[in-house]
Amino acid sequence: MQVKVLSARFDIPDAHKIEVAKEHGAYATLEKVFSMQPVDVIELVKQSGLRGRGGAGFPTGLKWSFLPKNNTKPVYLAVNSDESEPATFKDRHILVLDPHAMIEGIIICCYAINSHHAYIYIRGEYTTQVKVLQAAIDEAYAAGYLGATVDGHDFPLDVTVHRGAGAYVCGEETALLESIEGRKGQPRSKPPFPAVEGLYGCPTIINNVQSIASLPYILTNGADAYKAFGTEKSPGTHLFGISGLVKKPGMYELPLGLPILDVIEHVAGGLREGRKLKGVIPGGSSTPVLTPEEAQTVTLDYESMAAHKTMFGSGGIVVLDDTVDIVKLVENLISFYHHESCGQCTPCREGLGWMLKIVKKIIGGKGTTADINLLVELCDNIEMKTVCVLSAACTMPVRSYLNKFRHEFEAYVTSDVSCQTAM
Ligand SMILES: Cc1cc2nc3c(=O)[nH]c(=O)nc-3n(C[C@H](O)[C@H](O)[C@H](O)COP(=O)(O)O)c2cc1C
Ligand code: SF4
Repeated sequence: MQVKVLSARFDIPDAHKIEVAKEHGAYATLEKVFSMQPVDVIELVKQSGLRGRGGAGFPTGLKWSFLPKNNTKPVYLAVNSDESEPATFKDRHILVLDPHAMIEGIIICCYAINSHHAYIYIRGEYTTQVKVLQAAIDEAYAAGYLGATVDGHDFPLDVTVHRGAGAYVCGEETALLESIEGRKGQPRSKPPFPAVEGLYGCPTIINNVQSIASLPYILTNGADAYKAFGTEKSPGTHLFGISGLVKKPGMYELPLGLPILDVIEHVAGGLREGRKLKGVIPGGSSTPVLTPEEAQTVTLDYESMAAHKTMFGSGGIVVLDDTVDIVKLVENLISFYHHESCGQCTPCREGLGWMLKIVKKIIGGKGTTADINLLVELCDNIEMKTVCVLSAACTMPVRSYLNKFRHEFEAYVTSDVSCQTAM
C-alpha cells in the first residue's frame, strides 16, 4: 500500500545534504520550470489537482491564481511549518529528512507567483528541524539556488526562517503573519484574505510544508503522473501519521483513497492483542471521531470524510481501542484548545474554559444530565461565532464525542438534575 513520492529520499543516508539530494534528483526540475511561463506552472499545478495539505484541502493552484492581477507590491510566500495540531507529525519528516524537496518547491512556487522572498514559519519546539533546515538553506545559497540568481536565472529569491514561540494558534494563517510581523500571534478578521492583503499589507500565499514539497514531483513528472495516485477528486499521495493504540504507529506515505480500516490493519499493524476498536480520529484532534461502524465505509480522501460528516484534516489518524475513556479524552482535548486560545473572542476564551469546568465536574462525579446537555448547547453557541476556527476545532470533535459516546458521559453522571447548573 505504501508509496514513495514525497518520501522517495527519506531512506537515503544524508539526503538532507545538498550533494546527496542532488545525486537523487533534487533541483533537477528547475531547468524545465524556468523554461515555462509562470502562468503555465500555475496551470500545471491546477491540473495536478493538488490540494492544500495543511488541513482544509483547498486547491493549491487555484489559491495561487487569487493573487491580484496588475499588482505592483511585493508578493510573499509563507510556508506553514507550525505543525502543532495534536496527532500531526508529517511535516517534521520532510523538514529533517528532505529539506531540499521543500526548498525546491519554494523556488517553483515563488517563480509561479512572482515572489522574491519566502518565509518559513517553523514551530518553535522543532529545534533539530530548524538546524537541519537552516543548514540546507545555507547550502542552497552557496550552490546558487537561492540569492541574487536562482540556478543561473535572473530571478532573485531569499528565504528567511522564522521560529514560532510555542503557540498552536500561530499555525492559523493570519496569526502566522502577525507573528512574522513581530506582533502577538492573533488571527485577523477576513476579508481581506492574505492573497490580497497579507504579510506587510502585501499579497501573500500561505502553503503547508507538504503542499510545497509535493511540487518538484508534479513539475518533473507532470499532472497525470500525480493524478495516477489517489482518487479523481483527491489525487496524489499523503504522509499519514498513524498513532494511538496500534501495533506499529508511525508515519506512512500512502495514496489517497484507501479504506481507513485496511490501513490501520495492514499498514499500522492493527490493534493490540485482545482489544476492540472503539473509534478513529481521522485527521488530527480537530476532526470529528468515527465510530467503528462508520469507519467500515470511510476511505482516506476529502470526499469520503465529508460524506461521513468529518474531515480529512492533517492526515493524523488516531486509533482508539476499548481501553480509552472518552470523557477523559474530551477533557484532555478541551484543555489543549482552551490553553491555546489567543483570547480575543469571548466565546472561545470563556466558552472553552466553561466547557472544561463542566467536563471536570462530570469526571469528578458531580455532573448531571443537564451538564451534558449544556456542553452540547455551548458547542452550538461557540462554533462559527469567532474570528478564527480554533474554537470550532474544539467544539466540532467534542460534539461528535457527545453524540456518539453519550453513554460514557452518562455513566459518570451521578444525579439526574434537569435544571441548568450554575458554574
Ligand atoms: C488553529 C489553526 C492551526 C493551524 N495550524 C496549521 C499548521 O500547523 N500547519 C498548516 O499547514 N496549516 C495550519 N492551519 C491551516 C492554515 O491556516 C492554512 O489553511 C494552511 O497553512 C494553508 O496551506 P495549504 O493550502 O497548503 O493547506 C491551521 C489553522 C488553524 C485554524
Ligand atoms: S477563536 Fe479563539 S483563537 Fe481564534 S481568534 Fe478567537 S479567541 Fe483567538
